Amino acid sequence: MDAAARIERALETALSRAEGHAGGPAGSSRSAPPGLANAIRYAVFPGGARVRPRLCLAVADACAIDSPIIADNAAAAIELMHCASLVHDDLPCFDDADQRRGKSSVHKVYGEPLAVLTGDAMIVMAFETMCAGATASPSRLPGLVTALSRAVGGPSGIISGQAWECEPEIDLVQYHRAKTGALFAAATSMGALAAGESPDRWRPLGELIGEAYQVADDIQDMISDAATIGKPCGQDAAHARPSAPRALGLEGAVARIESLLRDAVDAIPPCEGAAELRSIIAAQAKRFVPKSLGRHAA
Ligand code: IPE
Ligand code: IPE
Ligand code: MG
Ligand code: MG
Repeated sequence: MDAAARIERALETALSRAEGHAGGPAGSSRSAPPGLANAIRYAVFPGGARVRPRLCLAVADACAIDSPIIADNAAAAIELMHCASLVHDDLPCFDDADQRRGKSSVHKVYGEPLAVLTGDAMIVMAFETMCAGATASPSRLPGLVTALSRAVGGPSGIISGQAWECEPEIDLVQYHRAKTGALFAAATSMGALAAGESPDRWRPLGELIGEAYQVADDIQDMISDAATIGKPCGQDAAHARPSAPRALGLEGAVARIESLLRDAVDAIPPCEGAAELRSIIAAQAKRFVPKSLGRHAA
């Protein structure tokens, strides 16, 4: 089974568990309220690029993982956390975005209370999913839980990244590293941890790809259109947020992506899967800079 199918299967298992299918018939006291169950499913399927879980599995495979189930569930946990962050990010109190992945955002369809609860539920599901995947290798679980917790709740995780938007002064690099880089760093670290290896030498790879990814997202926000990227554009200017092309200019932002991705390739630790990882980075690089800029970051 290829990586994409493994990720979808692990997500489907996690959602079925949350919906209560395993616990009792629909409508019984052991099934979730239909609105919540539907909203969670709407937030997860169909997915976007699934880039973070793919990176996690690529690293696990590069570390010659002995037990794919722990990596599949770690990858699904990362994607659940990412989807939760998007549902909350789109809420009126954050970016007030009506569209996500080419369809109406969760709060537009299900209302704000269920959108808040959907994000909350997925954050908790992420941890349950990691636990479910680690029953055969429980000694790896504390490392995985710590890595994901730090990527989300630590002083440099997603929550702090989003909270920088409430400050009068924002350092662009610190903001990008926290709101986006941290979960990419968790993806590479957790791939290694799932394989029973130390995450330390894999962290820089995720940090660099994540930072490049957010610079690319900022460029799209400035020059693309909602029909192309499936979510509103011009958000950074509308909310007076710092963004890479606003700080560096478009050419400067493209050059920053190129430099970050060169460093990312150099940061791949020596391993059997290095060639595969280089090709994943090259494939992402092609997506990073819109064709209209006439170059890409490969
Ligand atoms: C969007 O992430 C939010 C950012 C941190 C840039 P993605 O571009 O990975 O979103 P999906 O999952 O593919 O929709
Ligand atoms: C999203 O950042 C990062 C999250 C933690 C959700 P943005 O607000 O810049 O991303 P998009 O453009 O809405 O996907
Ligand atoms: Mg935002
Ligand atoms: Mg947003």
